[in-house]
Formats: sequence, C-alpha cells, structure tokens
Amino acid sequence: MKGIILAGGSGTRLYPLTKVTSKQLLPVYNKPMIYYPLHTLLKAGIKDILIIVAPERSGDFLNLLGSGKEFGARFAYEVQDQPRGIAEAFVIGKEFIEGDPCTLILGDNIYTDDFSEVIANHQEGAKIFVKEVPDANRFGVVEMDESGKVLGIEEKPKVPKSRFAQTGLYIYDSKVADYAEKLTPSARLEYEITDLNNMYLKGGQLSAHKVRGEWIDAGTFESLHRASLVVREHELGIHKNNESSLKVTIREDQKNLKEDFTRSLL
Ligand code: TTP
Repeated sequence: MKGIILAGGSGTRLYPLTKVTSKQLLPVYNKPMIYYPLHTLLKAGIKDILIIVAPERSGDFLNLLGSGKEFGARFAYEVQDQPRGIAEAFVIGKEFIEGDPCTLILGDNIYTDDFSEVIANHQEGAKIFVKEVPDANRFGVVEMDESGKVLGIEEKPKVPKSRFAQTGLYIYDSKVADYAEKLTPSARLEYEITDLNNMYLKGGQLSAHKVRGEWIDAGTFESLHRASLVVREHELGIHKNNESSLKVTIREDQKNLKEDFTRSLL
C-alpha cells in the first residue's frame, strides 16, 4: 500500500497566516500540521509516501521532512503547479503508485482514530471515510446502506440525505491512476474527488468506513484553533476518553515536549 499526502492548495481561508507559508506547515499545538496526517499513514504501516506540495513551498517541506529516514519511511515529493483538484493527486502520482493500491490523506485533516486494520484489509474498489456531523449540508454528504456500501454522494446539498460527511481520507485499489486520468475538470476547473469516487460507485465498488474519535479539517481559523486544543488534550493525556492515539512521537527532539510543557505549567 502506497500513501499520498496532498499538501498543496491555496489556504485562502487562513489568510494572512498563509501569506508566506503553507497551511500544512502551520503549528497545531506543538507540531506542524502535516505531522498529523503523516502520523495517520505511518501508524497504519504505510512506508512509501508521496508528498504533493505547491511550487512556492516545496523547499520548506523538504527541509522539514527530508528523505523519511528519520520517520522510518521513504518520502517522495511532487509539485502540483496549480490547485487543480484533489483527484489530480493520482495523475501526478501515477509513476509513484506503480499500479499498487494507494491511500490518500489531505494535509490538513487530523484524525485520532487508528486505521491500520481497515487499510491493511483493503482489497478491491475504493473506500471513503465518513463522520457524523450536525451540519452535513456544508460537506459532501454520503448516503449508504447498513453494510457500508455507498448509495450516493451529494456535494453540499440543501437537504442532506444523511448526517455523514465525507472526510479527507480515501483508499483506492490499483485502478485509481487510470480512472483519474479519465476525469475532466468540473465547472470550477478542478479534478473532483467526488467524480473519481462516482466511477467506483457506478461499478458498485465504493464503500464507507465510519471514523471514530475526532476528525478535524483544520482549514479555518475556528477549526485550526480547535485542532490545537484537541491535540493538546491528547498530548497531555487529559482527553476525556484518555485515548492518546494522537500522541505524535515522531522525532527524537520532540520527546521532552510533554514534560517541558507540564513543567512550565507548575
Ligand atoms: P481545501 O481546504 O479545499 O483548499 P485550500 O487548501 O486551497 O484552502 P482554501 O479553500 O482556504 O483556499 O483543500 C483541502 C486539502 O487538499 C488541503 O490540504 C490542500 C489540498 N489541496 C491540494 O493540495 N491541491 C488542490 O488542488 C486542492 C483543491 C486541495
């Protein structure tokens, strides 16, 4: 299983924070945002990871993350010239994918759940990850049957058919790059991930997995702030369920942060 982190885009909703840096490099409590989706992939045992970035920021990502060796993984980098849509990740990443199955995560999506099992067990077709939300009409809304088979996805519908929003994590089988190459840009000139998912849906090969725990799309001021609060609770072990799956102990130099922080509170 290969992994892709899509970390380009414009980040206009976070302007001026994103005037001179990428959204995915902004701090979320004590780490750059991209560490969290990276952690989600690493935790699931994915070792070959392609990081897709905007051209202006490519050097910063390389400086931060390097070859992947210190994370026990192999990182590759590609540039997306323009933010032409999420599904373009598979066109850009075709050579990297080399006909393997592939998990895509958006660089600003933070999960506390552990997806090791569902990723390891994935075989044919595509899987999207959904979360029950109170305001589903703001998202891609997923209608599904009891087995998790997807019946339909509607983008920001006025009257949502379910309370399940599509989140920024997707698993695809080896056909994904070929399907993505058949896409045409939408009215907003993007290669839409929903169009790609609809190709799998038409073949009866799209299923949904319900995300447990927190899911945060950290692309707005409010959600970015909330992300820092949630991560802080997990890092300090004061989360109400006391599940600490968000503890990202990736780098040696991060090891003492929790201790230092706790000491500074005393
Ligand atoms: P969005 O949050 O939808 O877009 P954005 O990051 O450009 O932000 P804004 O709407 O505030 O301008 O993107 C979700 C994630 O996908 C984010 O991590 C950026 C990434 N992305 C790309 O890398 N390339 C793209 O073409 C698009 C649409 C998104």
